[in-house]
Amino acid sequence: MKITYFGHSCFQIEMGGTQLIVDPFISPNELAKDIDVASLKADYILVSHAHQDHIVDVETIAKNNGATIVGPYEVASYYGNKGLNYHPMNHGGKWNFDFGTVKLVNAVHSSSFPDGSYGGNSVGFVVWNEEECFYYAGDTALTWDMKLIPMTCPKLKCAILPIGDNFTMGYEDAVIASDFVDCDTIVGCHFDTFGYIKIDQNDAKNAFSKQGKQLTLPEIGKTFEI
Ligand code: NI
Ligand code: MN
Repeated sequence: MKITYFGHSCFQIEMGGTQLIVDPFISPNELAKDIDVASLKADYILVSHAHQDHIVDVETIAKNNGATIVGPYEVASYYGNKGLNYHPMNHGGKWNFDFGTVKLVNAVHSSSFPDGSYGGNSVGFVVWNEEECFYYAGDTALTWDMKLIPMTCPKLKCAILPIGDNFTMGYEDAVIASDFVDCDTIVGCHFDTFGYIKIDQNDAKNAFSKQGKQLTLPEIGKTFEI
């Protein structure tokens, strides 16, 4: 699985030749100023919830690529009403897309658009094809519901978890989350973008390595293989 990090909680993930972009917040992110949003390629955009720091560049990327926006009913329909391609889903539901299966799982977090529109409930995504499976937690607290993922989905190859604390779980709880989802290969996100979520990266890595797990803190603009 080829993963490129665009800062905050935004990733591009290539699955069997299909490009997925998750939660694009790039253009206002000072740390991601070298990323050219206009040049990004996406077949699908997965959106976990309606908060500004997850959606700012959704419309631009969708329009440039004719990409389909996949997310909770309220979020996907919001973009559908603007004439963009969309596929609405909700918690517990899965759908077989041409690149693989997407299942929406619980996230404990709020959700409203910057313009005040109702954003429904936040979700996480489990995405798989015949070879690989990953969990993108979105913004969430540690929640007991994460234990349902290994019971209902294929074995995870990696889990992308928020670790920045304050608005989501911090890395200490993310270590427990990695146990709940039965995955030792963790990619951190939602850290260092703004003051409230600045972390000590070594402390975060040590918290995982003490439990025999690997935390990758990706570099913005870099592609890595898992
Ligand atoms: Ni949020
Ligand atoms: Mn957020």
